[in-house]
Amino acid sequence: MRIFMDTANIEEIRRGAALGVVDGVTTNPSLLAREGVQYRDRVLEICAVVNGPISAECISTELEPLLAEARRIAAWHENVVVKVPMGEVGLQAIKQLASEGIKVNTTLIFSANQALLAAKAGAAYVSPFIGRLNDAGQDGMAVIRESVRIFDAFHLPTQVLAASVRGARDVTECALAGAHVATIPSAVLFQMIQHPLTDKGIEIFLRDAQKYSPV
Ligand code: G3P
Repeated sequence: MRIFMDTANIEEIRRGAALGVVDGVTTNPSLLAREGVQYRDRVLEICAVVNGPISAECISTELEPLLAEARRIAAWHENVVVKVPMGEVGLQAIKQLASEGIKVNTTLIFSANQALLAAKAGAAYVSPFIGRLNDAGQDGMAVIRESVRIFDAFHLPTQVLAASVRGARDVTECALAGAHVATIPSAVLFQMIQHPLTDKGIEIFLRDAQKYSPV
């Protein structure tokens, strides 16, 4: 499973990239708003740190402006994947952008049906928001499992990119469900490294190492 970081904070991205496990980054308007930066500048900063797919979201709601915005954003860098929200206009845009060779990450996916339609329209990725589904009392992981199973059954090349990940266990569940990618907030990524038994084990080894001569 590929791991993307779900943040627009460049320091978090630098810290994560240093681990050697980060394959890409996803951003969205809320994540960028937190940073108070110039959109294009920040996306290019991220492209310079992580050599992988960098998702940058379009906000236009009408087709022609959305297509123009997506083409502009896609032209920023070869690794940029444009994020387009699921919907009727979104599907029309995905179809057109895919025909132009522009990779699209269809965001705000909340059902396997939405994922299937986005895949058929030519999306490179679909992003089911598992945390928000769970918040609504639904089974976010079921949408991951169903989408993966449908894409596999019909050999659809679109990748399931699990989003709205809220905790370390979500990452394990996404991997077990066959998600191609999980996009992970910085806090969760670093939480994945930790385990109290690891800490305890290191403490004991260091203590016992004092009992023999160092190399
Ligand atoms: O990539 C989508 C993600 O940032 C949304 O997460 O926690 O706002 O549902 P959340």
